[in-house]
Amino acid sequence: MTTRVRGGRYIVQGEAVLHGRVRISGAKNHALAAMCAALLTDEDVILENVPYISDVDSLADLLRALGAVVKRLPDGSLLLNAARVATFEAPTELISENRASFQVMGPLLGRYGFAASAPPGGDVIGQRPIDVHLSGFEAMGAAVTREGERFVARAPAGLTGTRVFMDYPSVSGTQNVMMAAVVARGKTTIVNAATEPEVQELCHLLNAMGARITGVGTQMLEIDGVERLHGVRARIMPDRIEAGTWAIAAVMTGGELFLDEAPWEVMDALLHKLRAAGAEITTEPGGMHVRGGRPIRAVSFQALPYPGLATDLHAPFGALLTQANGVSIIHERVFDNRMLYVSELRKMGAEIVSTGSSAIVSGPTQLHGTRVRALDVRAGAAVLLAALVAQGTTIIDDIYHLDRGYERLDEKLRTMGVEVERA
Ligand code: EPU
Repeated sequence: MTTRVRGGRYIVQGEAVLHGRVRISGAKNHALAAMCAALLTDEDVILENVPYISDVDSLADLLRALGAVVKRLPDGSLLLNAARVATFEAPTELISENRASFQVMGPLLGRYGFAASAPPGGDVIGQRPIDVHLSGFEAMGAAVTREGERFVARAPAGLTGTRVFMDYPSVSGTQNVMMAAVVARGKTTIVNAATEPEVQELCHLLNAMGARITGVGTQMLEIDGVERLHGVRARIMPDRIEAGTWAIAAVMTGGELFLDEAPWEVMDALLHKLRAAGAEITTEPGGMHVRGGRPIRAVSFQALPYPGLATDLHAPFGALLTQANGVSIIHERVFDNRMLYVSELRKMGAEIVSTGSSAIVSGPTQLHGTRVRALDVRAGAAVLLAALVAQGTTIIDDIYHLDRGYERLDEKLRTMGVEVERA
């Protein structure tokens, strides 16, 4: 397991040109949801390709606190067994560590008719309400109350399938409601569901456990409730955000990388923009090859729900645009505070102005090494990418944020030719 110590620092030598081959790890956001799904059965759920990242560790601790068994098997896969779940109340200190933890609510409520939790933690990337989750539970017949700092959902007679409209196509909201609905009585239709690949993968996982979900990948999910789910052995999809981060890094540094297992089938928006910026990208069944071209062209983009450009790639792409020739305009349409990276890049010499949820980047600028912070997992990735092209040494503080989402980051960087030390 990884460490979850706050702080930590990377010392990165700049003017790197990335080259080589890197294997993309399992997807954080699919792994976290899949771990919560294990609460829906008494049988073993074995997940392969779960990344060694601190968000997985904190969710594992939370599931253990509920009474589940969570352990790595000798082959590296993660075994989860929820036969002995003894409490339906998520401990606040663990729930506040990451936002995905709130997704224990749906499975607990669906299976046991009771669930309680404080509001979720996670990155400070804007208003992150949970109204969509709670109103979905209520629509299925749960009574939801706020008791002190906790939300409590009760459905002693079980949940009943119904039509649930998502006021916003929230990723974890869709997953939470879906995990409650798979064991509800009758049929649930989720209208305006999120279609992110991780949501689709969760649908496939639940179906492999005996659920009956159709409409996978559309904004309308139909779920026929079943009495119980069974165990499963499944593989976590490769992380499209990690793959995107490395693809951007290759382009930004004028390097060349082969990204083993990159899930390019779900990365169209990014590949489209990288090609517009001048990158050469070829895809093949086992991954994709990315080569940066010079000069990098300025491109504007909006961060949108899938299949638009992922908000989790906004900050890394913003870092790339500091090296592009001309003016690029960015609009963030998913979260209202994803601009934290801007101030850090400015410390390194970037010319970026941001107002509200938009930014204007002028380039190319010669960035210079200095001391900066990883302010959230993706803002951290942005400063790391900037450090790769900067002149001199960059010290990145608070890299525990990067540990939440990127597996063996420094090790991977070294294999790509970067001089980086962890302190
Ligand atoms: N929203 C609502 N009401 C709700 C829930 C969300 O209005 O009840 C709004 C939020 O305010 C936000 C937007 O919906 O503006 C998107 O939030 P969403 O609920 O879709 O995001 P999430 O489920 O909290 C997941 C990922 C994020 C990723 C987003 C968007 C997990 C654990 N997290 O968050 O990942 O950015 O979807 O794709 O799956 C990351 O990996 O760095 C990360 C933050």
